[in-house]
Amino acid sequence: MSCSNKQSISAQELAAASGMQRRLHGGDNVQSDHVLAAQNTFSEMKKRYTALSDDHLDLLFREPRTQYAWQDKEVSEDLLRTLYDLTKMTSTSVNSCPGRFVFLRSEESKERLRPTLTGNNVEKIMGAPVVTIIAHDNAFYERLDQLAPYADLKPMFVDKPAYCEATAFRNGTLQGAQLMMAARALGLDCGPMSGFNNQLVDEEFFAGTTVVSNFLCCLGYGDPSRIFQRLPRLEFNEACEFL
Ligand SMILES: Cc1cc2nc3c(=O)[nH]c(=O)nc-3n(C[C@H](O)[C@H](O)[C@H](O)COP(=O)(O)O)c2cc1C
Repeated sequence: MSCSNKQSISAQELAAASGMQRRLHGGDNVQSDHVLAAQNTFSEMKKRYTALSDDHLDLLFREPRTQYAWQDKEVSEDLLRTLYDLTKMTSTSVNSCPGRFVFLRSEESKERLRPTLTGNNVEKIMGAPVVTIIAHDNAFYERLDQLAPYADLKPMFVDKPAYCEATAFRNGTLQGAQLMMAARALGLDCGPMSGFNNQLVDEEFFAGTTVVSNFLCCLGYGDPSRIFQRLPRLEFNEACEFL
């Protein structure tokens, strides 16, 4: 079997997958009970809610800050399960769900992380009630039978390591970002960190697997007395364009 290192798939593979998805999405006159129920659930939700309030937009976007110091306040296992239950519902390509999340809660598990941290990040990270390793499984396609049962999508990925890694990294990063948004929606604060040695983390936590680390995200309730001034952002005209 040939081993392709390209980061994309062929037009034929894409067309085949699109045809399968069209059937799943109710095209070709397929109107199964599952499709109708999904359409109904979505329509009802749109009737109940419009946009979030300005306060909620502050909570999620305008006012949250990266946290470097933490209150001595526990984050329960139940809350972390709720956090995952929100995160898992966000979108990934072909519903691949490659993100994997390791919540380090015990002192022993955080001590395993300590030698992988660099510079003054040690102090910022070790004091957090929970440190999440945001990772992704490069062999995510092994679960597609469960996640996309409408078609056999596995051949799109088998023996295409570069394509799998790009897909897993893209979607795993999105899931990590969504986890941060979900955490803030639940009243938690976040401290995302990439200043650590990914290879050491992979050896310590994911040896013998196809899972690799991406970034860390501390979770808990931040100490407001340790926040410094807000840094500027790019204005619309510096980052966006209309075509
Ligand atoms: C993926 C990611 C990695 C980061 N890595 C580090 C890090 O290694 N060390 C650090 O002190 N801050 C780190 N940060 C924090 C950023 O510097 C911070 O989010 C940015 O300055 C904006 O601050 P604000 O969120 O308080 O507005 C990271 C943030 C993100 C999103």
